[in-house]
Amino acid sequence: MSDHIYIKKKIKSFNKKISISSDKSISIRAVLLASQAVGTSELTNLLESEDVMNALKIIKTLGINYTKQANKYKIYGFGLNNFNIKKNTTINAGNSGTLARLILGLLVKSKFKVKLVGDKSLSNRDFYRVIKPLKLLGANIKSKNNLLPIEILGTDFLRPINYEEKIGSAQVKSCIILGALNSPGITTIHSKASRNHTELMLKFLKYPIKVRRLNESYKISIKGQKQFRAFKYKIPGDISSAAFFIVLTILSKNSQIIIKNVNVNKSRIGIITILNKMGAKIFLKKKRLYNGEEIADIYVKSKNNLISINCPSTINSSAIDEFLIIFLVAAKAKGISIFKDLGEMNKKESKRLDLGIKFLKLIGIKVERFKNDVKIYGNPKLELSNKFEMKNFLKDHRIFFLSCIAALTLGGNWKIHDKNSANTSFPDFLKILKFIGAKID
Ligand code: S3P
Repeated sequence: MSDHIYIKKKIKSFNKKISISSDKSISIRAVLLASQAVGTSELTNLLESEDVMNALKIIKTLGINYTKQANKYKIYGFGLNNFNIKKNTTINAGNSGTLARLILGLLVKSKFKVKLVGDKSLSNRDFYRVIKPLKLLGANIKSKNNLLPIEILGTDFLRPINYEEKIGSAQVKSCIILGALNSPGITTIHSKASRNHTELMLKFLKYPIKVRRLNESYKISIKGQKQFRAFKYKIPGDISSAAFFIVLTILSKNSQIIIKNVNVNKSRIGIITILNKMGAKIFLKKKRLYNGEEIADIYVKSKNNLISINCPSTINSSAIDEFLIIFLVAAKAKGISIFKDLGEMNKKESKRLDLGIKFLKLIGIKVERFKNDVKIYGNPKLELSNKFEMKNFLKDHRIFFLSCIAALTLGGNWKIHDKNSANTSFPDFLKILKFIGAKID
C-alpha cells in the first residue's frame, strides 16, 4: 500500500458533529497504572494507536496480561512492582517519548536488566532528563550519550528524592512520580507547570499523592510503596487531535463543527486560549468532571479577520504539541505574531521548531527566528496554487496532520508522504477528514 496521499482541493463548507480519537497521554498512563494495580482494571475507549499498542506490548513482555472485548481492555495487575521480568528482556517503545520515559520509572526496582529501544526518531531523543533523577532514586542505568538503547537494572535500595524539575516536562515529572511509587518514604518534586494527568489519575486511585501550587511551580509529594486497587476508566477525546479540526474549521469558509467529549484539562488547552486571543470563537460546552479530569464538547466556527498574537511563554507547556498548527493560524492572521522560548519543540518526534519554520517558508510566509523565539509575518490573503511535496519529516504524525490541514484550507496541489505516521496518535484522522467532506486521493 502506498504511503502518500494527494490533496488538490480545498475543503467545502461543512457543518458537522464529530468525535475524535481518545487521549494518548491518558491512555498510556491508564495502561501503565493498570499494570501496577491489584486486580483487573477495565479501560474503555482506549486509544488504539501505535504508541498505546506499544504500551500494551511492553506490559505484556513484562509479565502482565491483558484481553480485549468489544470496546474494553482488561488488564490483569498483581500490584506494585509485580512485573514478571525474565533475563535478557528487551522492550520497544516505538515512537513514543512518553511511553519510554514513563516505563523507566516503573522499572527502578526490576530484578533483571531490561533493555529499552525505540524507532529512529525516539533513538535521537535525549534521555538525560530522566536518567538523572532515576539514578538519584538508585536505579542502575547504562546508555551511550544518554540516548537509546538504555539498560536499566533496579535495586532494592531505592531512596526517596527531592527533585527540582526545571524543564516543564510532564514526561520527566511522571517518570519520577512512577519511580517514587516504588521508593520508601516521601519523594518531593518541585515541578514547572506541565500536563498533570499522572497526578490526577493517582488521586482518582486514592494513592497518597499531594499537589500544592506555589508561585511559579507545583510541589508534588508522593508517599512510596502503597498498593492501589484495580480501576475502571473511560478515556476522553484528545485535545491535541481535536486541535487540527479546530484549525481546519477556523480557516475554512462558512463552516462549523462540534467535537464531542474532549479532555479540556487546564494544563492542555493553551491552544484554545491562544486562538481565542487571535480572534477565534471557540466555546467549551457541557463541561463536566470525570475521575478528576475535565471533559467538554468543543464548538468552533470559521473566522475571518484573525489577528496576530504576542504569545506569553508561560502558556507554552499547555500547548506544546499544538504550536505547529497554531503557526498555521498565525500565517493567516493580520500582523506579526511572536512566540518565545520554544526550544522544547525541537526535542519532540522531530525537530518541530526547525521544521515548522521551514514549512511556513515553503508556503510563502516570512519568518524570523532568534534562538528559540519566532516572529511570523501573517498574510490574511494567503492562498496557494502551486505544487508541494512533503517528505523527510521523520514520519512525525503532527507534521503530516499540519500538511493536510494547510492543503485543505490554503489550496495548492499537495503530495504528502508518510500517511501511516497518523497511526502514532490518530489512526482515524483521514477517515474523519473525508467524513467532513475532504477530497483525499
Ligand atoms: C506528554 C508530554 C509532553 C508532550 C508529549 C506527551 C505526556 O512532553 O509533548 O506529546 O504524555 O506526558 P514533555 O512532557 O516532554 O513536554
